[in-house]
Amino acid sequence: MRHDDLLAFTAAVFTDRGLAPDRAREAARALCHGDLAGMRSHGLANLTRLYLPLFDDGRVDPNARPRTLRDRGAALLLDADRALGLWAAGAAMDTAVERAAVYGIGVVAVRGATHLGCAGHHALRAVDQGMIGLVASNCGRQRIARPPGGAVAMLGTNPLSVAAPAGAHPPFLLDMSTTAAPTGRVRQAAREGSVLPEGLLRDDAGAPVTDPGAFDAGRAHLMWLGGEAGQYKGFGLGLMVEVLAALVPGAGMGPSTDALSGDGGPSGRDDDIGFLVAAVAPGALRDGTAADAEGLFGALLDCPAVDPSAPVRYPGWHEHERTRECLRSGVPLDADLYAELAGVATRAGLAAPEPLEER
Ligand SMILES: NC(=O)c1ccc[n+]([C@@H]2O[C@H](COP(=O)([O-])OP(=O)(O)OC[C@H]3O[C@@H](n4cnc5c(N)ncnc54)[C@H](O)[C@@H]3O)[C@@H](O)[C@H]2O)c1
Repeated sequence: MRHDDLLAFTAAVFTDRGLAPDRAREAARALCHGDLAGMRSHGLANLTRLYLPLFDDGRVDPNARPRTLRDRGAALLLDADRALGLWAAGAAMDTAVERAAVYGIGVVAVRGATHLGCAGHHALRAVDQGMIGLVASNCGRQRIARPPGGAVAMLGTNPLSVAAPAGAHPPFLLDMSTTAAPTGRVRQAAREGSVLPEGLLRDDAGAPVTDPGAFDAGRAHLMWLGGEAGQYKGFGLGLMVEVLAALVPGAGMGPSTDALSGDGGPSGRDDDIGFLVAAVAPGALRDGTAADAEGLFGALLDCPAVDPSAPVRYPGWHEHERTRECLRSGVPLDADLYAELAGVATRAGLAAPEPLEER
């Protein structure tokens, strides 16, 4: 599929749901980033699973008018007014970049938002301006993962991303859930009938689970990043995101006594999501950071590999290469996803994007 065709189609779907064309285009770019960069769990597969139901249920307002509640110059507090997070997070990053150009740093704390998709897409907007971008998002009041030793889910998968220019090299782009995997990856594996590696899910007794279907069946729960011995580190990262992205702006939070009334499994809804979006302009503090970044990431690429057929790469390198390749040769979509998009097109009275080989 040509990326431009996917973008135009996705933007048309969002416009059909009431988004203004400029917002629809930015939201489409954010959603299509998943398939373009290889984060398929957070790409177009979520159109029918996550975003269209938000419109159907009135949980997102296509005409939302985000309000500035506090403006301290380098730091702002916004209420997103239930705007589509795919658009609102990018708009927040643009504001952070504008402020960083003046103050060296810009921080935008957002509450009342909805799901932003891949955090890294929004972090990369700062890189386009030669800055470092940070995006943290909580999952509103949705609770999926348990504290280590806990019997009740308390936090979401709380994604975190930092992106930085790397000179002539592909940008650094750390973009991840703070749980060992996002739920989207587990459900994608369940749809595809594949087996998960150990270290992502475990059962109540702590034994590893590799059947992805066990998660939605309530027989397994998500682990944090950090491996068996490092669960407190991943949990700490998840909590860090909750503090930055939800406590700071006053968004909905996962940990609450409401969690105690359920069966310990996932509970709560991902409404009133919070973001912390920041841009740092390293050039505001000293000269030479761009050249130093090129040296830093170049040295890593030059690191001798144990296996010469598997060279050392840093986060973001593969996404950059895949993006270039997909822009050149098309974005691969599996047949089931294409059929879903064709169904969306039919229901909306739109033309489905045309597969490349049928042109
Ligand atoms: N909005 C939400 O609520 C939410 C929640 C969870 C995750 N997400 C999104 O889901 C997406 C997928 O998250 P994930 O945790 O599955 O990511 P992942 O595990 O695929 O990748 C995590 C990081 O590891 C790096 N990486 C992976 N393999 C590498 C390799 N071989 N060499 C070098 N670096 C490598 C990637 O560049 C990335 O920065 C992200 O875009 C994330 O923002 C969103």
